Amino acid sequence: MVPVNCYGKRRIIGQDISKEELIKAGVKQSLIPDLKSVILMPNEIDTIISELADKISQDYKESEELLLAGVLKGAYRILPNLAEKITIPCVIDFMSVSSYGGGQHSSGEVRILKDLQENIQGRNVIIVEDIADTRYTLGTLLSLLNTRNPDSLEVCCLLDKPERMQNTDVDIRYIGATVPDVFVVGYGLDFDSKYRDMPIVAELKKECYL
Ligand code: IMP
Ligand code: MG
Repeated sequence: MVPVNCYGKRRIIGQDISKEELIKAGVKQSLIPDLKSVILMPNEIDTIISELADKISQDYKESEELLLAGVLKGAYRILPNLAEKITIPCVIDFMSVSSYGGGQHSSGEVRILKDLQENIQGRNVIIVEDIADTRYTLGTLLSLLNTRNPDSLEVCCLLDKPERMQNTDVDIRYIGATVPDVFVVGYGLDFDSKYRDMPIVAELKKECYL
């Protein structure tokens, strides 16, 4: 599966896409001035998640069950959408980690705030993440979960920022879309706990995070 390339998809608000269109799509009016461009509209996100689900359903068609391990809070929107579209029964679990001290840069240090409740030994597990940036978070999670002897362990990310990759040991089997090196928010992605509830993925204006 080839990820959707979003490099040419940045629609400048007020130029390529109107505020009215965004409000109609469900973006809250007071958040719009903070956004520079739109990267993915709700229908585009839905198509991407459908394609990820089709690929996963195909790859695991011999399996009776799949364990989706969502990384909170970013995966709070992707995971239910994905689980609904995958044709194999899914067990849902969540873990919570912190890698960003509430800001914009990854510290490289990953703390487990909440562990999975399920025993993953002998099971097919897919970690579901909002975005892969440096990949330090995923590297830590993969090492930790691998010690628990799952039957298989893969990663599914809605977005990937290939230019920011530092940890090249992390192989991501399922990537929805690649985005340029800009700070993106919405569809689970936040800045300082804000913007997660937007139904779109958008580029945040620099003055809102610098
Ligand atoms: P990594 O460990 O550097 O790969 O960071 C991954 C985590 O950083 C993601 O799960 C996000 O929570 C956060 N992150 C990275 N880039 C962005 C972004 O552009 N917007 C919002 N959160 C981001
Ligand atoms: Mg985050």
